[in-house]
Amino acid sequence: MRFYTDRLIMTPGPTEIPLRVKRAMMRESTNPDLDPSFLELYNKVRGKIKRLLKADRSSVYVIVGEAIMGLEAAIANTMRPGDKVIVVANGVFGEGFADIVKAYGGEPVLIASEDWRRGVDLGEVERALEVNKDASLLTIVHCDTPSAILNDIEGVARIARSFGVITVVDAVSTVGGLPIEFDSWGLDVLIGGSQKVLNTPPGLTIMVLSDDVWERVERVGYRGFYMNLKAWRDMLDTKGVFPYTMSDTLIYALDEALNMIFEEGVEAVYARHLKAREASWRAIEALNLEPYPTSLNHSSPTVSAIIVPSGVNERKLRDHIWARYGVMIAGSWGKLEGKVIRVGHMGLQASRTHLLTAYTALAKSLKDMGFNVNVGEVVNAIEDVYS
Ligand SMILES: Cc1ncc(COP(=O)(O)O)c(C=O)c1O
Repeated sequence: MRFYTDRLIMTPGPTEIPLRVKRAMMRESTNPDLDPSFLELYNKVRGKIKRLLKADRSSVYVIVGEAIMGLEAAIANTMRPGDKVIVVANGVFGEGFADIVKAYGGEPVLIASEDWRRGVDLGEVERALEVNKDASLLTIVHCDTPSAILNDIEGVARIARSFGVITVVDAVSTVGGLPIEFDSWGLDVLIGGSQKVLNTPPGLTIMVLSDDVWERVERVGYRGFYMNLKAWRDMLDTKGVFPYTMSDTLIYALDEALNMIFEEGVEAVYARHLKAREASWRAIEALNLEPYPTSLNHSSPTVSAIIVPSGVNERKLRDHIWARYGVMIAGSWGKLEGKVIRVGHMGLQASRTHLLTAYTALAKSLKDMGFNVNVGEVVNAIEDVYS
């Protein structure tokens, strides 16, 4: 028997699309390449992203394509073959940057790859830059979603800048959920995604480039065709023309998602995510489970990763929660596959009702599987945070 009539997606992206965003997508299409009013809207969306990420002095592009394309575009446009790149590898996506670097002929130097349960230590970053004075780039992931680890991108960028090294940040699962001050933190390239905190369908990459990084982009001279960031600057910024067809539907969706954030107030949105992290950690404690990150401050306000208790098949557990209670949570990837389950609390999910439903379903499922779980304690743990 099913115990639900509706379904709740609590995965750390793609996330639920709110009705307002769905409605915005039903706007009549014109021709996004030719309609001046669409260009005006697109530029307004860029302005909203600049405001959100405090990137007034920088360039913002919203490009059709998955966030992975954004990561690849970042490397392809800022790195020359043979360049040395410090790769902060304390997670699946962190480590994954090394593959992109290698694919473009660069030389990745992996750091922090031993301990995936905490954010990178700033001393380790400094030591790596001291030893590798010839490095030109550093890559880092703000929240490595498969492990929920949070890295101090502000601290890392400050150190990298003092060595004259460019910082490329994957902020795919944090944009809109926690403060990012692109200009004042001295970030150089930042990649965001649509389908995480922003509750917008997959398919858009947000790219932010500092004023300083363009000189490097010029020197590197992108050798491909599709991901040419100079083409975006030269065509869009100077001529008001998209390098290739833009998806108006997705831009309407993103615009409405950003409106929702500003209407709620960015500070209120960030506070809601911090509360969600706290409630989530309290629920994990009440379940007698262990978070994967070793401390709250190293865990992202947008997602929680939980170590699968011994004797539990995580696939069966997730299937049970979905089939019986209609709640979808996620497993993990790479070396964390089968070892970690994840509950997203990004965007709409960062709410009392979402967390209550998700953790009640998780608690009941563990109970169904023979675990000694007190469901009431889990509910109380969350309610305490929201009382
Ligand atoms: C931190 C991070 N980077 C990059 C990606 C890749 O995004 P996409 O699937 O949109 O290509 C994800 C998606 O899960 C992510 O969590």
